[in-house]
Formats: sequence, C-alpha cells, structure tokens
Amino acid sequence: MIDTLKKQALEAILNAESLEQLDEVRVRYLSKKGEVSLLMGKLRDIPQEERPQFGALVNSLKETIELALYQKKQGLEDQALWVALSKEKIDVTLPGYQLYQGGVHPLNQVIEDMEDLFVGLGFEVATGPELENDHYNFEMMNLDKDHPARAMQDSFYVDENLLLRTHTSPVQARTMLEKQGKPLRIICPGKVYRRDDDDPTHSHQFMQIEGLVIDESITFANLKDSLLTMVKHLFGPERIIRLRPSYFPFTEPSVEVDVSYQKKDGTLGWIEILGAGQVHPNVLKMGGYDPKKFRGFAFGVGVERITMLKYKIDDIRHFYTNDLRFLNQFKGASK
Ligand code: PHE
Repeated sequence: MIDTLKKQALEAILNAESLEQLDEVRVRYLSKKGEVSLLMGKLRDIPQEERPQFGALVNSLKETIELALYQKKQGLEDQALWVALSKEKIDVTLPGYQLYQGGVHPLNQVIEDMEDLFVGLGFEVATGPELENDHYNFEMMNLDKDHPARAMQDSFYVDENLLLRTHTSPVQARTMLEKQGKPLRIICPGKVYRRDDDDPTHSHQFMQIEGLVIDESITFANLKDSLLTMVKHLFGPERIIRLRPSYFPFTEPSVEVDVSYQKKDGTLGWIEILGAGQVHPNVLKMGGYDPKKFRGFAFGVGVERITMLKYKIDDIRHFYTNDLRFLNQFKGASK
C-alpha cells in the first residue's frame, strides 16, 4: 500500500508541468487531510507490535515525497526563469541615464601633483592630526609658551593644551620622533587653521604643504635646488626664484621665497610663495637628532596661494564655497 502510494506520488510530481500543478500534488499528498496523513490514521487499525515499523515507513514516504517536491520545484523555477529571460529583449534605443561625474577639487589636484613630484624625488608623504597639542605645534618648533612669535599665528584653542594646528610644521616634530634619528625626507600636505577675518586673500582655514629633509650632508644649496625644481614644475621652466632673509623660530637661517613672473610691461616681478630655512639646532635636538652630525632644511608652502597663482584665481573663498560654476572649470584638469 505504501509502495503504491509512493509510486503514484512520484509520478504525479514528475508529470507536474507548472508550479501550480506541483502545488496541487503537494496538497493531495502532504496536507493535513492528504494521502500521507490518511495513511498515518490507519495506525490505529494495525496490531500494536507492527505500529513502530509502519510509522517509520510512512515517515520515510513523507520525506521522499518532500524531497521530490523540492527538487521538482527548483527545476520548474529555473525553467520559468529561462523562459522569462528568453522572452525579454534589451531595447538598445532607449536613451541612457546621464550620470553626474564629480571632479577632483583644484586644491587636491595641486596637492596630488606635488605629491607625485616629491615622491619621485624620494620623499615620503607624512600626515598628522589637525587637532594638535600645543607641545608639537609650538614648543617642539622652538616656540616656548611666551615666545612673541606665537603672535604671528593667531590660534583656535580648544583648551590650554589643544588647538587646531596653525601650520603643518608639527608633523616635522612627529616624524622626527618616529624616525628615531634616521635620515628622512617627507612632505606633509594638510589643513591648517588661524584666527583671521576671511577676505579675498585670507581664510581661517587653508592648506599647506610642509617639506622636511634631514641628513648628514644637507646644505642650503639642497633647499634652493628642491624649491627651484618645485617652482618650475608648478609654474613652468622659465620661472626662477629669489630668496629673501626672514625669520622663523624653527629655522636658522630662514628665508622667504619669491617666484618670478613677467609683468605686463615685460619686466620681471616677484611674488612671495613660501617660507623655508635650515632646520634650527634646537628643533633637531628636540626631535632626537644630534645637530653636530645632522642638518636639515624645511619649507612650508600655502596650497591656496600657489593654486591661485597657477590658475589666476582672484578670491581664496572660491575654494570653500562649493559653487559648481567655479569647481566645474577644474574638471578634467587633473591628470
Ligand atoms: N610653518 C611656517 C608658517 O606656517 C612655514 C615654514 C615651514 C617656514 C617650514 C619655514 C620652514 O608660516
């Protein structure tokens, strides 16, 4: 009796041509009032000792039917998918969606370009936190708590010891400590903050690229050559630079660097672009380098300033107001 039922059920499953038909088979055999349940109901008419064996047989019948139903269902579903796919055609005449593509911000384009240049010259790219300790931002840079030169960099303090970094120079100190007295060459691009009223040439937030090289035989000539290479790369091979004596607490001697440009009347003009100098012995010492053995040079260049000069931009605020009419002009300019 069980065998006959099994045969019938499997045959019905095999012959089902659609998911609906298959479900009818399931109902007929496995639902509460289905054939298999009826069979279970017969348990009562069977002698006591044969009941366990009978029960087991009915259960195995149920499992066989369930498995067969499952497999058939998968088959029918696959088939339905194939039929649906073969009926569908792609209409290639429909116009596509226009996806809006952004571009790299002009400041980041200049930073990426500088990174490419300096990595090619053997520099590493270093980073540091924008929320910085007074210790790294000033003290390790040879600016004591009451150093008057702190006034050159009006700062946003969070508490007595924490501030938004006023320059990328603290990354010099951090890197020196990290390198533990080994020669190093880094550039460090990043945001800096100073208390300032925003106007066409001032912004309370701007970007710098710091450069630092420490080795045993570094001279001022190395600094000058690196800066000249940078300026020619940025603005063109016809440019030259001029160094003017200046003062920074962390470099000695210090210079301000101007880049040449041709004035309308054909004469040579100069525009200041960065500060630089030979690393001060105190800074070397605090960073763990013996100033008798090691020398270094450092520079800090304003990214907005060089970008404005490069692309003839007249207002620093354009970089931060997200006006697409401005930004779209730089799309595709990146390499
Ligand atoms: N940190 C200086 C500034 O922000 C720039 C600088 C860096 C000067 C390194 C000399 C050496 O003004």
